[in-house]
Amino acid sequence: MPLQRPHPPPTSTQKPCRIRCCTVGGCLSAHGLAVKNQFETAVTDAGMDAQITVSSVGCLGLCSQGPLVQIDPSGDLYTNVTPGQVPQILSTLPIPSSSPKPFGQAPPTPSLSPSPPLPTPLYSILPFFTRQHRIVLENCGRIDPEQIDDYLAARGYDALHQCLRELPPAEVVEVITRSGLRGRGGAGYPTGLKWATVAKNAAGSEGRRV
Ligand code: FES
Repeated sequence: MPLQRPHPPPTSTQKPCRIRCCTVGGCLSAHGLAVKNQFETAVTDAGMDAQITVSSVGCLGLCSQGPLVQIDPSGDLYTNVTPGQVPQILSTLPIPSSSPKPFGQAPPTPSLSPSPPLPTPLYSILPFFTRQHRIVLENCGRIDPEQIDDYLAARGYDALHQCLRELPPAEVVEVITRSGLRGRGGAGYPTGLKWATVAKNAAGSEGRRV
């Protein structure tokens, strides 16, 4: 069956605001799921589902400061978030202040401190992040790894589509060779060389090797 391109962006990305809640191990162990659930409840109760998306995302990178929550499009990053801080964070969102209802009160969770939240300042220039150049993990913390529409909207599978539908096999091997990609085993064998060897020996045979 032919692959369809381009994929339409998911409706979640069309809302003016997105709340990314890290729900990976480190943040989960610090009640990250309770934080996300509280955001969902508060947004729904306030009648703001059409304006705000609450998503689970992969690790945002500052695991020791979890649970972490990041706001789109402002980029504000909140650390050590508790369910009790959710109404305060929601009240700062850059969306029209015509919320049909208030974002609710802090839930009665005495074990989780509801101290006033402040976004981590200067997130975009923190050396921890600016010294990183993410390649394989470039979308980690930006998409919901359990929502394929999120991955497709981030151009997921574009390279596979190109390989299968647009580039001749020799050019695919050439691109991989030029990329310098190496195996992750002890030898770090050059992937382009491996693919070129396989392609040469497979010449004339049917099928594709992945
Ligand atoms: S596990 Fe949440 S930031 Fe890494």
